[in-house]
Amino acid sequence: MKVELYEKIWMYLAVVLLSAFACAVLFGAYAGGLHPPSNVETIDPKAVNTDPRFAHPGVTTHPDGSVEVAVVAQMWAYNPSAITVPAGRPVTFRLTSTDVIHGFELPGTNVNTMIVPGYVSRLHTRFDRPGEYLIVCNEFCGLGHHIMAGKVTVTEAQR
Ligand code: CUA
Repeated sequence: MKVELYEKIWMYLAVVLLSAFACAVLFGAYAGGLHPPSNVETIDPKAVNTDPRFAHPGVTTHPDGSVEVAVVAQMWAYNPSAITVPAGRPVTFRLTSTDVIHGFELPGTNVNTMIVPGYVSRLHTRFDRPGEYLIVCNEFCGLGHHIMAGKVTVTEAQR
């Protein structure tokens, strides 16, 4: 079977394009630290407030300097809605919902995940620059969806 020259060229071009797309995805994943949150940890959505993991939501600083933030999402607020973390430290968010699916996005960072009732979403980040970051809910969760927001304040790096 004879393959026309132009056909060959287009075939090679398709391979080059696909490789370029794959490289763009890998670059985003590794250089940008983007990846799907793959934590599979279940929780009873009706007992979130008495579950020891979320009984006292907020910021915990571990002895190694890393920071963990537990947040409970419900219609139509985050608890806590104001979070303060230091810059330059590994920060782990642990999130769960007591009712429906909510979103948790900090525009301009790699923090963006769904909060699914029955599960604990977990993601890691690090804020390099002090400042204020908006938390927005990007999953439609009912009448008050558009007012569901919060704020992360990143303070100067502590030594
Ligand atoms: Cu919560 Cu939209």
